[in-house]
Amino acid sequence: MSAPGVPADGVHVFPSAGEAVEHAARALVAISAGGARCSLALSGGSTPALLYWRLAEGYRDAVRWDRVEAFFGDERAVPPDHQDSNYRLAQSILLSRVGIPPAQVHRMAAEEDDLEAAARRYQEEVRRLVPAGPGGVPQFDLIWLGLGDDGHTASLFPASRVLEETRRLVAVSESPDGRPRLTFTLPLINAAKRIQFIVTGMRKAAIVRKILAPGPAEASTPPLPAARVRPRAGALEWLLDREAAGQA
Ligand code: 6PG
Repeated sequence: MSAPGVPADGVHVFPSAGEAVEHAARALVAISAGGARCSLALSGGSTPALLYWRLAEGYRDAVRWDRVEAFFGDERAVPPDHQDSNYRLAQSILLSRVGIPPAQVHRMAAEEDDLEAAARRYQEEVRRLVPAGPGGVPQFDLIWLGLGDDGHTASLFPASRVLEETRRLVAVSESPDGRPRLTFTLPLINAAKRIQFIVTGMRKAAIVRKILAPGPAEASTPPLPAARVRPRAGALEWLLDREAAGQA
């Protein structure tokens, strides 16, 4: 399974969700071993939760957590202890359990009234801590992304104006039910050195096919947000289980 811009060797189909998340975990092991600092962007969603659980159970010592600067690719406009908070998910399952220094966990303050200001501040935090590449845009070592049933990723939803952002790195967006969110924009995502989509389960098979094996129907409609994730110089990987790949 491949799509224009996604090399066939960038699509990995694993026998199970567990094996897909192991691949992602091993990528973090290798990256954190490679330098004094490692920038990582976490995602929300159910498959990342499986990855976080696995990292905490099996990779506490294998990952150099003392080197990891952990950011969030998106956040819902709720307090950090809210059940919908991506920070809460990652913090409770993973970050609080692996000994990462709290100062290296960078949550989006999406509970604030002024979300535009919160987005600007988060952008500054990213700029301060993540080294910029040739275009002056910070280059994350690794960004983990999920895929929504409608083709959204991070909080970049179909037909959203935020998809056309060319300058800002972090922006305010809205989910289809009208609830505000903060999200990385495409310029920031596509500057990354490595991006891994982690997508599992039968429910995702149809949308995965639309993105990785588009037919005539997809060719005549605007590309879905996840299909616009095309790192300019970095590597793009799709980690699928057999169900999400439509091979179950
Ligand atoms: C979020 C996300 C989002 C998510 C997908 C997949 O906060 O909602 O970052 O992009 O990864 O919606 O979520 P599921 O795996 O739960 O379907």
